[in-house]
Amino acid sequence: MISKPQASVTVVINSIAQSKKAQGIRVFNLSAGEPKLKTPKIIREAAMKFIDIGDIPYPITAGEKVLRKAAVDRMREVHGADYAEDECLVTTGGKFAIYLLLEYLCGLNSPLKKYPNEYLGVMIPAPYWVSYPAIAKIMGGRPVIINSTLEDGWKLTPEALRKAYEADCKFLFLNNGCNPTSVIYTREEIKAILEVAVELDLIVISDEVYSGLVYTDDEYVSCSSFPEYKNNVFVIQSTSKTFAMTGWRVGFVMGRKDIIDVLIALTTQSTTGVSLVCQHAAIAAFKHADEITAEVNALMKARRDVMMAAIKKYFNVDIPVPKATLYVWVSLADLGVKGIGDDDFCIRALEEANVATVPGSSGFGQHGYIRLSFGAEDEDLIGGIEALAKFAKQFN
Ligand SMILES: Cc1ncc(COP(=O)(O)O)c(C=O)c1O
Repeated sequence: MISKPQASVTVVINSIAQSKKAQGIRVFNLSAGEPKLKTPKIIREAAMKFIDIGDIPYPITAGEKVLRKAAVDRMREVHGADYAEDECLVTTGGKFAIYLLLEYLCGLNSPLKKYPNEYLGVMIPAPYWVSYPAIAKIMGGRPVIINSTLEDGWKLTPEALRKAYEADCKFLFLNNGCNPTSVIYTREEIKAILEVAVELDLIVISDEVYSGLVYTDDEYVSCSSFPEYKNNVFVIQSTSKTFAMTGWRVGFVMGRKDIIDVLIALTTQSTTGVSLVCQHAAIAAFKHADEITAEVNALMKARRDVMMAAIKKYFNVDIPVPKATLYVWVSLADLGVKGIGDDDFCIRALEEANVATVPGSSGFGQHGYIRLSFGAEDEDLIGGIEALAKFAKQFN
């Protein structure tokens, strides 16, 4: 049952794009899941100041106390969460927080297993971020995909959750600020999902790494704002998107202390913790969180608008404007493309037109769609959409 671990499709496409670039080919990269901009100066300066001190020892595995406090304080201020410092672990990005959580709770020695080689069900609403099923499989879990549709607004519903549930299911992923659909959930929707999840005794892994990239007046609702469900929920957070710090690799998991303590123990046997240079950078980011978030958010919103205008101009189509994240999720049909699957379309667009995009089928569990990232700079957004439209003409 345990197959060879898969490389993330988004990372693979991004690396083909990078290698074309290294050969001097102009690639329009609309595939990367990151805001393409310099990490704010104040953050870089804090890191350099720390480097200059010169003494850079192993970190305390759980993370610097000041950083854990800054992260939980921010969650309190913005979302009304109630976590203590020791209910928060600093991780090597949000991705590793998910990895650790499933390693402990779904892996070989999971306390939730009745016998060691049992496969626990990991419920994953689709379209999903590519790493959820991949990590679940690496940990010996059984991904249980819950499909949604355009008509559902690409949202998980309590009814769909109930219907997909099977007795071995122990986890539910919820990605609010969803990669790839950009969907955000209302308070009522989250509450209804949490109610059913708790009734089914599921542990909810609430991936909120895009909570800082929301471009609407609609309320962004964190699962941490429901104290009554605190024992069932783990929140994944990250500095990557909100503070333009993808390469620094600083993320967080917040939840029950007894479980956080085990994740700390697992970290001592893997990464040892996050580099102190990066932690000091993140501490500075939290000190200036309001300004930095506002700046990154405004820039990404402007880039979103540039991409939407380019889609309108070159494809001559109006598609819904994403309310959050960094992604336009669009069907090939809406782009006027017929007679080719999304995987082939994206591979050929990269090979033949030098535009990197991510296919829905191998990337996100939904065929017929592609994901276009507006994290890139304006020239990539405009040039990329123009080149993609030219390439797409042959499939009209
Ligand atoms: C939905 C989602 N969750 C988590 C992550 C992980 O982010 P990081 O490991 O950079 O914190 C990403 C990154 O692309 C993502 O899109």
